[in-house]
Order: sequence, then C-alpha cells, then structure tokens
Amino acid sequence: MKKSDQEVVLDPVDRSNFIKLFNMQLRPDQTKFVTPPRWTLARCYVRLFGDNFEHLPHLIRSGDEVVGYATTACDPNSAHNYWIDDIMIAAKEQGKGYGRAAMVEVLKMIVERYPRCEAVQLTCFRTNLNAADLYVSLGFRPTGGVDEEFGEPNYKLSGAALAKFRE
Ligand SMILES: CC(C)(COP(=O)(O)OP(=O)(O)OC[C@H]1O[C@@H](n2cnc3c(N)ncnc32)[C@H](O)[C@@H]1OP(=O)(O)O)[C@@H](O)C(=O)NCCC(=O)NCCS
Repeated sequence: MKKSDQEVVLDPVDRSNFIKLFNMQLRPDQTKFVTPPRWTLARCYVRLFGDNFEHLPHLIRSGDEVVGYATTACDPNSAHNYWIDDIMIAAKEQGKGYGRAAMVEVLKMIVERYPRCEAVQLTCFRTNLNAADLYVSLGFRPTGGVDEEFGEPNYKLSGAALAKFRE
C-alpha cells in the first residue's frame, strides 16, 4: 500500500482499550519528544490545561491494529486554544503513512467538534525534525513563541490551511 493511501480512525480511550495505549512503544531516542502513554492519560485526567479545556485521549487504529495515540486539549469557547498535546505512532509502525493520516483525522475531528476553532496549536521539540517536517507540510507554521512547560517552539495552523480540514 502507498503511504498516502493509509486510513486510520480515532477511538476514544476508555476502560475497554486503555491497556493498548499503555503498551505503546517508542524508539528509545524518541521518548523525550512525546509524553509517555501513562502520563498522557494522566494529563487528561487532571485536566492539565485547565478546567475550561476538554482533554481527549484517542487511540489511532488502522483496521484491527492500534498503531498510536493522540491527545487533544481544547477550550471550546476560545478562538485559538486548540492544542494537540501528544501524538505518536508506535516504533514498529512508523514511516508507513500513519502519522500523516492520523494528523488529518485529528484536525478534522477538532474543526468538526469545535465550531469556534480558528487555530490549532502544538509544540515540537527543535531536534524532532521528522515531526516538524510533517507539521509544516500540513500547513503549520512556527509562531515564534515557546511552550511554557518545555521551552520548545510552538506551531500554529490557521486561516486557509486550517479551512481545508473543514471540507
Ligand atoms: C512524528 C511521527 C508521529 C510521524 O509518524 P509516521 O507514521 O512515522 O509518519 P509518516 O510515515 O506518516 O510520514 C509523515 C511525514 O513525517 C516525516 N517523516 C516521518 N518519518 C521520517 C523520516 N524517517 N525521515 C524524514 N521524515 C520523516 C515526513 O515529512 C513524512 O512525510 P511524507 O508523508 O511525505 O513521507 C512519528 O514518527 C512518531 O511517533 N515519532 C515519535 C513521537 C513524536 O515525535 N511525536 C511528535 C511529537 S511533536
């Protein structure tokens, strides 16, 4: 299958499937780029971004296989506070097109679920060149600002580049 033909769906994490989230493995050199599975769920549980944010953890599934996870933290009453907090594809599944397909589904989910959304944001570590390439190719641009927690660059998707995901 061509990378561009990959299709994935997002499954909300619940008691029936959270073990699959916990079993996700990254490459050792990538662990600093993303919050590990248990922590990503804990961030959602404690509503780390604030009570006004909806924190949603999702598994990324291709057919019967869970290939990764994505968590979002969004303030439905804001224009710009829509964050992809974490996204990862399991080490053995990387490079097959799942990451791009998952980003498209996450962006579609955000604009459909939150009608007031005018921008989606994320943080990408300076040394995470593969992820940055993916985000820029989808239309994200560096904001010039850095994340309070990690001091790493923030990226934003807005305007016509975001509108594409509403179609
Ligand atoms: C970043 C990540 C989500 C990409 O997922 P993936 O399934 O490997 O990516 P894809 O196969 O869909 O490739 C998408 C794009 O990513 C970039 N990319 C992915 N692997 C790459 C590699 N080995 N070398 C260069 N670019 C690469 C390319 O821009 C690629 O574009 P293409 O579709 O034109 O080839 C995945 O590598 C990952 O989970 N990394 C570790 C965790 C992480 O860094 N998360 C992001 C935190 S900000």
